[in-house]
Amino acid sequence: MGKKYDSVEDGFAAANIDGAQRHLFLCLGPDCAPMKEGEETWDFLKKQCKKLDLPVMRTKAGCFRICVGGPWLLIYPEGVWYGDVTPKRCERILREHVQEGHPIEEWVQRTHPLCGSGPGK
Ligand code: FES
Repeated sequence: MGKKYDSVEDGFAAANIDGAQRHLFLCLGPDCAPMKEGEETWDFLKKQCKKLDLPVMRTKAGCFRICVGGPWLLIYPEGVWYGDVTPKRCERILREHVQEGHPIEEWVQRTHPLCGSGPGK
């Protein structure tokens, strides 16, 4: 869980709403993947985002209702869905997609930007 703050503005500031360019959601399981795997990926994601000082918000998702092929990483605003996200895969996704702006096409399972243009992949 997050910390408690005295005001909404403090909470927004701590969440880095203003600085965020992307929002990363990770489902940790247990139905799409064993929780242990999801937690390993989450721990890596958290550390790596901090280490690289990435301009992102990150959120644990309880379940996307996909429930197979996870852990799932969903990245907005592109609406890109990556399945089977191990820490090793996560490292490459953060580098190539989040830092350099190039989704890793061979790992993209679905693209569906909300309120975006055109149909999803
Ligand atoms: S448990 Fe991950 S999508 Fe349902």
